[in-house]
Amino acid sequence: MVDIKTIVVLGAGLMGNGIAQVAIMAGYNVVMVDVKQEFIDKGMASINKGVNRLEEKGLLTAAEVLGRIKTSLDLASAVKDADMVIEAVVERMDVKKQVCKTTMDNGPSHIIYASNTSTMDITEIGEDCGAPERVSGMHFFNPVPLMRCIEVIRGDKTSDETFQITMDVAKSLPCLRGERYIAPVLKSRPGFIVNRLNAPLGIYGHYIRDLAYEKGIPWEQLDADYAVLKAPMLPCVLSDYVGIDTSYYGALYYVEKLSPDFKPGKVITMMFNEKKLGRKTGQGFYDWSEGRPTPDTSIKAGLVDFDIIAAIRMNEGCRLLEEGVVKSYNVIDEANMAGMNTPGPFERGKDRYKELIKKLEEFVALTGKTYLTPCEMFKTGKFLEMA
Ligand code: 3HC
Repeated sequence: MVDIKTIVVLGAGLMGNGIAQVAIMAGYNVVMVDVKQEFIDKGMASINKGVNRLEEKGLLTAAEVLGRIKTSLDLASAVKDADMVIEAVVERMDVKKQVCKTTMDNGPSHIIYASNTSTMDITEIGEDCGAPERVSGMHFFNPVPLMRCIEVIRGDKTSDETFQITMDVAKSLPCLRGERYIAPVLKSRPGFIVNRLNAPLGIYGHYIRDLAYEKGIPWEQLDADYAVLKAPMLPCVLSDYVGIDTSYYGALYYVEKLSPDFKPGKVITMMFNEKKLGRKTGQGFYDWSEGRPTPDTSIKAGLVDFDIIAAIRMNEGCRLLEEGVVKSYNVIDEANMAGMNTPGPFERGKDRYKELIKKLEEFVALTGKTYLTPCEMFKTGKFLEMA
């Protein structure tokens, strides 16, 4: 089995610099690569800040940890002495395929390429690189140092050795908030586990946001509807935090791979076109110029139906079981808790699933969003046997 010592982290953005930080903290030598020096400088500033904060808490020696990272603007030369690449570039299949090939063309014959794609097919990313057996997925959650979940994804051609090494590296990366939870994803299906589970909520979210916009309801009132869930971030804050472009491209990917019902709504499309991308541009649903917004949730919009949300998530979880992406619904619940700090759908909803099915059928009849039609596993209650 290959001993991983040097990792190239490709992409110095939000995800890339978080991955590089936990990798140097784990003791790996890291080369962080990006296409522009300014991206690298921004990424390094964030890593320096994080590591220095931990030194202040007496948890590590900053100079020693930071001594393990180098940077480069040239992937082909950076991979020459590397054992693994963790890629966190833009969510575009053509770009991912190209950097995967550059890795395999220029790296040593044992190098492993793990993509931190949020949604995309690992098999397709590796199909033209010449060594698809050394391609896997390693899906992190934002912010990487604080979110416990990493999904490790097996493509159709990923070898057992590559999958095992990717699992081992994932397990070795520290998390500042509790123990890492590594979720094995047995088949590369769009969105893997957590993003897939929550993807069809986008269909409902687009519907509700467009409705709020038409009625002239402010975003904080819409967010106020969700305050009862006591999730760590309200949905419009979270969308801004993750990036409106990420949601937009993600929706387009699901349109291509799953159903036209995922089409981005009017509001998201407008924000994307106006470059109101959230935290990264300083403006999204909210103004981020003074840091993370704290919306006033005293007035509710009264638009959101939580039974529909519960039903949508449970239905999608059942599809994941049907498709063989995971073996049990506990993995889905645990991955969701570790990846988003919110409970998964099954533990809460399983005792009233028949009632939820009825609600979902009514919503499908109202909107014509047939993708949300309850699947067999959900309808028959067979998922109850897959705990
Ligand atoms: N290095 C070192 N320390 C760090 C750090 C870093 N990089 N980042 C934060 N910290 C420290 C902070 O300094 C702080 O320390 P202190 O307690 O001593 O002051 C501590 O960690 C906590 O930081 P915050 O105050 O920012 O943390 P919060 O308590 O506000 O929680 C949160 C932040 C964990 C992000 C929480 O709001 C949350 O769980 N939000 C939900 C996030 C989520 O759902 N993410 C998933 C999005 S989906 C995704 O990523 C998938 C992808 O495919 C798009």
